[in-house]
Amino acid sequence: MIRIGQIGLGYWGKNLVRNFDELAQLTWLCDASEQLRLQFAGRHPAARVTESIEDLLADDELEAVVIATPVPTHYALAKQALEAGKHVFVEKPPAMRGSEMDELLRLAQERELVLMPGHLLLYHPGVLKLKELLDAGELGDLLCVYSNRQNLGIIRRDENALWSLGVHDLSVILHLVQEDPESVVANGNAFLNPGVEDVVFCYLRFPSGKIAHMHLSWLDPHKMRKLTVVGREKMAVFDDMELERKVTIYEKAPWEPAGSYGEWRTRTGDIFSPKIANDEPLRLECEHFLRLVETGPGDHREARDGLRVVRTLDRLTGSLRG
Ligand SMILES: NC(=O)c1ccc[n+]([C@@H]2O[C@H](COP(=O)([O-])OP(=O)(O)OC[C@H]3O[C@@H](n4cnc5c(N)ncnc54)[C@H](O)[C@@H]3O)[C@@H](O)[C@H]2O)c1
Repeated sequence: MIRIGQIGLGYWGKNLVRNFDELAQLTWLCDASEQLRLQFAGRHPAARVTESIEDLLADDELEAVVIATPVPTHYALAKQALEAGKHVFVEKPPAMRGSEMDELLRLAQERELVLMPGHLLLYHPGVLKLKELLDAGELGDLLCVYSNRQNLGIIRRDENALWSLGVHDLSVILHLVQEDPESVVANGNAFLNPGVEDVVFCYLRFPSGKIAHMHLSWLDPHKMRKLTVVGREKMAVFDDMELERKVTIYEKAPWEPAGSYGEWRTRTGDIFSPKIANDEPLRLECEHFLRLVETGPGDHREARDGLRVVRTLDRLTGSLRG
């Protein structure tokens, strides 16, 4: 079994601990909080518990490190772990600047180590279905995609809505479009905490002409976790708030009858929901990381996806503050 050490045992970290405890050998648990260390030591007597990352990294038997600390600490911790020769799973986003993510990717490539950012939605069976539909040509050419990630709260102080919420949708949009945006625009405002934008609207345009939009906010009456994909032949919606109908496919499209000389009509047909497996996305994500540790990082696709996302977030931040 792969030996794992985890840094960060807070709100999200405990979910990662639960999964890695079942799938691998959790040999180290690390957190700055004494209270959490005591709590986790009681639950995981086989793991060694520490407040210092150096203890983990000095263990030659430890193969991989999982980082679930606050975002501003990710880059430095991931760098330290890679330099110590450990494979790294790091929660999203792995860095707050494109240049930092570049450096992490280079380190992982030089040392043939896995560097996997926690892009949870890429392992969601509903998102996997969207990608499968697009790849199979079921929706026709992808024209535009837009996401809604809104709710009242959690109001964060150190990350704005773009970095906290946008990273999820951006990872999916870039995965579906498979291009780097040629232009990006972000508008928003910080209504509650100065400098921390709580409402952000983003627009991305890709070289092929595809366009995307993201509405990110924790000041909103609706709880929405939705992604709409408009293809030339069909349209599809992934709605993570739905319990059963996670993905809905609409046979709706524009249609240009022969000889109509540019006069478009619309075609509407069936609306249906394919079966989506009920697997926990986090479980699938953890399994993917362990598989990579076993087989090697290959072409570092996961880390390169992470770089694309951080670079785009960087550009959107420039536009938001510009
Ligand atoms: N994928 C998802 O859906 C999802 C959801 C929530 C959070 N997250 C991500 O998980 C990460 C953690 O978020 P959270 O909400 O669990 O935060 P949190 O504040 O609840 O937990 C962070 C923990 O890290 C510890 N910590 C901080 N610096 C440390 C250091 N240098 N060494 C050891 N321990 C340290 C803190 O004591 C705390 O217990 C963030 O990157 C966040 O973006 C992901």
